[in-house]
Amino acid sequence: MRLDKYLADMGIGTRSEAKQHIRKNQVYVNGALPAGPQQQVKPGKDEVVCQGKVINYTEYEYFMLNKPQGCVSAVTDREHQTVMDLITEKNRKDLFPVGRLDKDTEGLLLITNDGALSHNLLAPGKHVPKTYFAKVSGQVTAFDITEFARGIDIGEEKLTKPAKLEILSCKEMVTEIMLTITEGKFHQVKRMFEAVGKEVLFLKRLSMGGLRLDVSLAPGAYRRLTEEEINLLKNGSMAKEK
Ligand code: URA
Repeated sequence: MRLDKYLADMGIGTRSEAKQHIRKNQVYVNGALPAGPQQQVKPGKDEVVCQGKVINYTEYEYFMLNKPQGCVSAVTDREHQTVMDLITEKNRKDLFPVGRLDKDTEGLLLITNDGALSHNLLAPGKHVPKTYFAKVSGQVTAFDITEFARGIDIGEEKLTKPAKLEILSCKEMVTEIMLTITEGKFHQVKRMFEAVGKEVLFLKRLSMGGLRLDVSLAPGAYRRLTEEEINLLKNGSMAKEK
């Protein structure tokens, strides 16, 4: 890999800023000044130092964000804060959110630059389960549980795939539920409840494939995934392939 790309990938400015660092003799490779920005370096083998700091190369980064309400699941947005604005300690500049949560939905959002993993988690044929906690207006009934298990007409060509609905509590005409779906249609949870005459008042995603939201993360907080979580996500999502 070219030295200027190595540095740019690791967030040391743009490619031309990386070149400037190299030209100003601020970069060393294995203790020696490089021939130029085109010098080839081997990630993980060569030691690259920029302005006195060792720059380790990371090919992929994985973050778990507890998405707060009010920000959008996009890389950039002219009007609103994005989920990417919340990830302040990152090396890579090519990170993106895996799928979308609505602006008013909270909870688990995976942020990575691993395109293959993202595809495996989002591809409709993989049926990766996603579990949500919701507060729903009115009384969710045993009949709704049966209907959700059977499939709901949300105005798409086909009924929704069987979903597992659990009633947690019902107080003052607000029902707390858990719902596991294996699809990711636009506004799917809200549309499923709308189809049975109810409104989702609060929605939070708790898990996706083998990955569970860390309960210690307050809305807006994030952390890197552990190796174990990355493997769980990779194996879990791959295993569902038909
Ligand atoms: N279903 C919804 O309706 N909204 C979300 O954000 C996620 C699932």
